[in-house]
Amino acid sequence: MCGIAGYIGKKKASGLLLSSIRNLEYRGYDSIGMATISEGGIRLSKGKGKVSEVDSSLAFSELPGTIGIAHTRWATHGEPSEKNAHPHLSQSGKTAIVHNGIIENYLELKETLRGSAFKSETDSEVVAHLLEKNYSGSLKDALLKTVQQLQGTYAICAIRPDSKEIAVARNGSPLAIGLGNGENFIGSDISAFVEHTKKVVYLDDFQLASVKENSVELFEGNGNPVAPEPKTINWDVEKAQKQGYKHFMLKEIHEQPQVVRDSLSIPIPELEKPRKIFIVACGTAGYAGLTGKYILERYARTQVEVAYASEFRYSDPVIGPEDLLIAISQSGETADTLAALRLAKQKGAKTLGIINVQESTIARESDSVIYTRAGPEIGVASTKAFISQLVVLYRVAEKLSGTRIPLSPIPGKIQEILSQGEKIREVAKKYFKVYNFLYIGRNFNFPIALEGALKLKEISYIHAEGYASGEMKHGPIALVCDEVPTVSIAPKDAVYPKIVSNMQEVRARNGDVIAVATEGDSSISSHATDVLYIPETEETLYPLLSVVPLQLFAYHVADLRDCDVDKPRNLAKSVTVE
Ligand code: M6R
Repeated sequence: MCGIAGYIGKKKASGLLLSSIRNLEYRGYDSIGMATISEGGIRLSKGKGKVSEVDSSLAFSELPGTIGIAHTRWATHGEPSEKNAHPHLSQSGKTAIVHNGIIENYLELKETLRGSAFKSETDSEVVAHLLEKNYSGSLKDALLKTVQQLQGTYAICAIRPDSKEIAVARNGSPLAIGLGNGENFIGSDISAFVEHTKKVVYLDDFQLASVKENSVELFEGNGNPVAPEPKTINWDVEKAQKQGYKHFMLKEIHEQPQVVRDSLSIPIPELEKPRKIFIVACGTAGYAGLTGKYILERYARTQVEVAYASEFRYSDPVIGPEDLLIAISQSGETADTLAALRLAKQKGAKTLGIINVQESTIARESDSVIYTRAGPEIGVASTKAFISQLVVLYRVAEKLSGTRIPLSPIPGKIQEILSQGEKIREVAKKYFKVYNFLYIGRNFNFPIALEGALKLKEISYIHAEGYASGEMKHGPIALVCDEVPTVSIAPKDAVYPKIVSNMQEVRARNGDVIAVATEGDSSISSHATDVLYIPETEETLYPLLSVVPLQLFAYHVADLRDCDVDKPRNLAKSVTVE
């Protein structure tokens, strides 16, 4: 959450920083700002809105100087506004900072800074004032002293006109340094600078660094120097472009056949059958985890418990050394998932990360990691990462059970669904003005009902709830009327007759039904208002297909409603605060 960037070198910093925060914008986009050093002072520009909106009025790239920091915000403390946008300045205007995270003791710290006039409602501003107070000739030393006073999470970049360095620190919020030739870059993640360098130093929690034009010095939280260990990153810059699609989300949906193909050759580590598997994740990754329960229990006959990471971490889970915890995350930075992983490790469990972003914190902290091969996912709504997580879960089930699961025809079948894009848009045109939706599914397709509803609500702002279809009669059916359509996932599987009965119950109450059904099922149209067909497959594999029309349906509904599909309101791609 929030994207921070820095540049120090010989080039004009502002143009590079502008491109960095454009690439980081998916982390938050309610306000934007930049500060550079020029002629012995700090030049600051910031405003409310997305990068393009703010840049069109402030023209960031006109800021002079070869050292600078920038920020794209997802508000926690204080509404999105110019005054709350980062960078924040100290009282004298000589220290500028950008911050990602939450300073939990900011009110107490403010009390100790009574002489400083605070201009914003943020927790972050306290860092600028503390740095000023702690400065006595070395910005890095001032930052070291400052972070020792902070409670909470942070990634911080700080600059001063009298210091030819960017001082950075991390605890709980990611921070990477890109190593260039006579220049160095800083970013919340590598998308900030990957077009300039693929050599990266990742900061660990409590580390800080002094980044200069020609050097990077790394320090532990006690001030002891530590040798940086640069990693070379494999990242296809081209894949992070829209490539002619109207939105990243649409492009990413269309990449899914290839993502599945790529996922079929991911090496899966040897795994011992544990006493019990725990899966922790959030949002869409959580629904992949829930599907994983059905997959792993069916094939590997191992008991699986799935928990929201945010609940798991505050429970007292009965987990120990004979158990395996699987943490699923696209970004590898989700704060709650990371905390759940750490808790499981503390209790002695083995941990496995299923992660998309290389070298992310959860990937680095898991005992073993399986990298999904979804490539950069830029749309805030997760699509191709979900498919890749599912494929990895099927492959883990293969490993644990010694069974071969027939996944190879899946890419072709997804391609067939994608070719029905126009048909799905036509159905979306009938429903895009509706205010409420129900999504139902059973067994392997119950988590897909949850995922379909999440996709619709997050990008179109239509209220949508997913249910296990057997639960309809226990309450949700009271919502059914001619204004509340139900999306029913009804492939030809073992529970088909049951879900058809649920659809009839909806139709009997004047509710429209949009069915996701198996090709060739001609009788389904007598129970549904509209039908989206998917190819036939094994009943355990339907989630890989049934989710695709739901992604496209949500996309077209949101597009028809003129919503900002890739940057839905109030959301951020990487949720690094609790
Ligand atoms: O990066 P992660 O996979 O850990 O993110 C988890 C959720 O925040 C994420 O899936 C979120 O629900 C998406 N916006 C869903 O489309």
